[in-house]
Amino acid sequence: MPAYSASAPGKIILFGEHAVVYGRPAIAVPVLDVSAKAIVTADPRGTPGRVNIQAPDIKLETTLDNLPADHPLAAVIINAASALRIDHIPACNIRVTSSIPVAAGMGSGAAVSVAILRAFSAFLGHTLSDNQVCDLAYEVEKIHHGTPSGIDNTVITYAKPVYFVKAEPIDILQVNRPFTIVIGDTGIQSPTAIVVSDVRKGWEKAMDKYEELFDAAGRIASSARQAIENGSTESLGPLMDANHDLLRQLGVSCPELDALVEIACSAGAEGAKLSGGGRGGNMIALVTPEQAGNVAIALEKAGAVRTIVTEVGVP
Ligand code: PMV
Repeated sequence: MPAYSASAPGKIILFGEHAVVYGRPAIAVPVLDVSAKAIVTADPRGTPGRVNIQAPDIKLETTLDNLPADHPLAAVIINAASALRIDHIPACNIRVTSSIPVAAGMGSGAAVSVAILRAFSAFLGHTLSDNQVCDLAYEVEKIHHGTPSGIDNTVITYAKPVYFVKAEPIDILQVNRPFTIVIGDTGIQSPTAIVVSDVRKGWEKAMDKYEELFDAAGRIASSARQAIENGSTESLGPLMDANHDLLRQLGVSCPELDALVEIACSAGAEGAKLSGGGRGGNMIALVTPEQAGNVAIALEKAGAVRTIVTEVGVP
């Protein structure tokens, strides 16, 4: 019996998180070292319409009928069927696995959605365009994040570095010279929706100050774009440091993230910052390939629960 499978990578934001929610540009890249995978098979003995769902990583074994419609896994299946105008889903099994850390700013929710959308639509005998996958995954991101900018579903759908501006067409970034980053996970799970909502409260109280911080982050993302496209990657380190400072001023860092950022720089990184929603999750450090191992070891000694060394811009 054929199995329809699809994978989607993780992602990391290099520049511009939070400011991107307020219309400023941000840069995100896929992280191919981790991924989510969905496998869909027909269940010939199953009652028509019965969709068995297995997600062992979150210890979930259930059927579509038993999930609330606003559960991200149910929403993605229902939305895919409705986009393809399928009224009667054939009995099937959907198995989802993922090596992407959850609630750590690496796009695990969006990657699961994208993998399911591609595998499930293939099982139904259709192909969804990248645009459709991106839009459908965005709908599910709203369940995860409340008011997402759309950066996660975009970078994960296209699996390419992106210069992202909310509600604008995809802008793929050409990386002139590949560069290495180390990703360090604080191990603290921090739901993005809460941090995004706290930033909104701060913005409502001190709009001028927050708008200035967002403008500064936008300028950093735009300079970083030039550096990435020109191959002058040495200027990315100081831009990361400056972006981290702005994120601290927004109140989205935490002592653990600040400590890992400082340790990475002491161990020889050229710059470092928190990445994603903040208050936990991951930080990133720009390194030369030779320094990568030292920086990763220093981060782990300082309490990082996981480090990933990844090359950005390798075809
Ligand atoms: O999913 P995360 O934690 O990488 O963060 C999302 C980035 C934010 O800018 C904070 C929110 C958003 O929707 O863009």
